[in-house]
Amino acid sequence: MSVLVVKSGGAAGFEEWRACFAEMAPALDVRFWDEMGDPAEVDFALVWDPEPGRLAAMGKLRCIFGAGAGVDLIVRDPAFPRHVPLVRMTPAGAAQRMGEYVCWAALHLVRQGRRMALAQARGAWDYFDCASAAETRVGIMGMGVMGTRAAAMLQGLGFPVHGWSRSEKRLPGVRDFVGEAALDAFLAQSDLLVCLLPDTPETRGILARPLFEKLPRGAMLINAGRGAQQDLDAVLAALADGQLAGAVLDVFEPEPLAEGHPAWAAENLTITPHVASLPPRRERAAWVAHCIAGIEAGQWPAKIYNPDLGY
Ligand code: NDP
Ligand code: OXD
Repeated sequence: MSVLVVKSGGAAGFEEWRACFAEMAPALDVRFWDEMGDPAEVDFALVWDPEPGRLAAMGKLRCIFGAGAGVDLIVRDPAFPRHVPLVRMTPAGAAQRMGEYVCWAALHLVRQGRRMALAQARGAWDYFDCASAAETRVGIMGMGVMGTRAAAMLQGLGFPVHGWSRSEKRLPGVRDFVGEAALDAFLAQSDLLVCLLPDTPETRGILARPLFEKLPRGAMLINAGRGAQQDLDAVLAALADGQLAGAVLDVFEPEPLAEGHPAWAAENLTITPHVASLPPRRERAAWVAHCIAGIEAGQWPAKIYNPDLGY
């Protein structure tokens, strides 16, 4: 019997994981991370933020499953066992949810939802004109699983969309910008910039003043990648001086965003608590059970972390 250990969502979360796996993969011996017994017995680990060194102590570990699509909290471990495949959480519902979030945030920015909510709170009839999706060019940084779905869903709403990534893509109707050399041209035509990049040494701190200066004045920003990618002080300064007209941020460094932080009070900033795409445990467990069955049969899932690329 294969052993799966789980560290995601604490003890209460574990009970839900265990119930799902009991139904979906009854042959698995599923153990809570804090009570796993002998680490040498572990075959599979499902983790979000394992303590450094713990995975390396699992001598016969065959595969690690990230509890999310981003695996930065797993690979930050200096002892992370690079030889063990790390599978990223990509059930179909994850990209769908991200697409929904990005569409909501894009319309919220274009139709100035924050301004309307503040006016309502004051009891003020604040009448104003809004731009439309069709005249708002969206640039997506990171055209992977999340970015590709978000692009298609934004196009469905009428937004013109272009994307930036490391390697070439050929998506219908989406202009492709590849690599560092194309970044400035990509930014120059992004009225709304969406960040769906993974956290790597190359992307950390990328959302900062020099980048904002390359956007059209009054551009808008959505960041649902990672908080480490944004210089939050620079975002607030750009929102205050008009270089950015509005922003929706889902991710922060650290999380949760500190009580009393000036970002909470910014008039043209909408904050969401890292909820852009969070598939229910049941959906994620079904996907992990499916992957384990495939691995047992010699078939590996597609989205495996590449230590050389860092994502
Ligand atoms: P993928 O690995 O599928 O896609 C990553 C994309 O980023 C790829 O297109 C990749 O290029 C591009 N990229 C990476 N590094 C660079 C770089 N230096 N320059 C240009 N492009 C780069 O990841 P996902 O789409 O599944 O997820 C992306 C991130 O979204 C996650 O790592 C996570 O941080 C975040 N996320 C946040 C969630 C939330 O709830 N807020 C939920 C889920 C994910 P290429 O295609 O050429 O490889
Ligand atoms: C993820 C996340 O990476 O929820 O899946 O942030």
